[in-house]
Amino acid sequence: MSARDKFAGGTAVVTGAGSGIGEGIARVAASLGMNVVLADVARDRIEQVAADINASGASAIPVVTDVTDIAALERLADAAYNRFGEVTLAVNNAGIETIGFSWEIPDETWDRLLSINVRGVVHGSRIFARRMLESGKPGYIANVASIGALGMMPTQAPYMMSKHAVLSFTECLYLEMQLKKAPIQISAVLPAQVATRIFEDAPADRQSGFVERQREMMHAMITQIGVTPEQAGETILNGIAAGDFWVSTHPDTTAEVAKRRAEYLAALEMPALAEQARVLVEEA
Ligand SMILES: NC(=O)c1ccc[n+]([C@@H]2O[C@H](COP(=O)([O-])OP(=O)(O)OC[C@H]3O[C@@H](n4cnc5c(N)ncnc54)[C@H](O)[C@@H]3O)[C@@H](O)[C@H]2O)c1
Repeated sequence: MSARDKFAGGTAVVTGAGSGIGEGIARVAASLGMNVVLADVARDRIEQVAADINASGASAIPVVTDVTDIAALERLADAAYNRFGEVTLAVNNAGIETIGFSWEIPDETWDRLLSINVRGVVHGSRIFARRMLESGKPGYIANVASIGALGMMPTQAPYMMSKHAVLSFTECLYLEMQLKKAPIQISAVLPAQVATRIFEDAPADRQSGFVERQREMMHAMITQIGVTPEQAGETILNGIAAGDFWVSTHPDTTAEVAKRRAEYLAALEMPALAEQARVLVEEA
């Protein structure tokens, strides 16, 4: 079934919808005929995206939400159900990056990253799962991890571990829905390179030349070779509509990286950096 057939007339809630992949998913969802609830800490940006969507004839509301705050996530769900009724699709997408050696990244940056990338996804999923289960209607929960959930990368430890955690949580949630025979489809989204602001905004120790250069290289890489957020949004919504658990923006790359991960685990190899990643950290 096409994404339009599946989702038109439904309601999508997207966290981190003020930029990048979340914004791309929100705009594409609106173009498919969905009502869209845009959640982000960046008020100006979600107001702008909502204004664009409403001007196009679809319906969107911005709801300023910090995903680290469970009460704010509950208010987001209330706003969505009050305005549009049943939520069809909840996309837990908000996430941040950080660069630096594990022991040098400030305590508060570690905590903030884990809080946004892990707690935000976990509690967002729990809140929408409860409401979807209560309604008894078919629903979709998609959690945005990363291709990094299948790999390792020095100087991005908080990010990498957060994405492994999101994937693990999402696998468990999938199985819980199977146990309950619930009509809720669970998907893990593993984007590869998408041209967004994520590395521009990444807290980095600007005193360290190496860390700052690495951040700039990562930013240049995703903006030069990445797909656009709208392309990512389209591929992701098509994958969810197709009933996939593994949803990728770059299916061939994901398959290759997953195969490499499986071989590494099967042979209990020593941790090693992927060939393509060496250039990013060689001056360390
Ligand atoms: N861009 C990529 O290449 C890529 C690759 C793999 C995974 N991802 C994942 O995709 C997701 C979206 O990233 P992106 O690249 O679009 O980044 P982005 O920086 O363009 O967008 C992230 C959005 O999240 C919002 N946000 C940050 N903290 C928040 C909070 N506490 N509460 C609510 N919103 C908050 C930001 O304001 C921003 O609008 C992230 O989970 C990221 O890890 C991105």
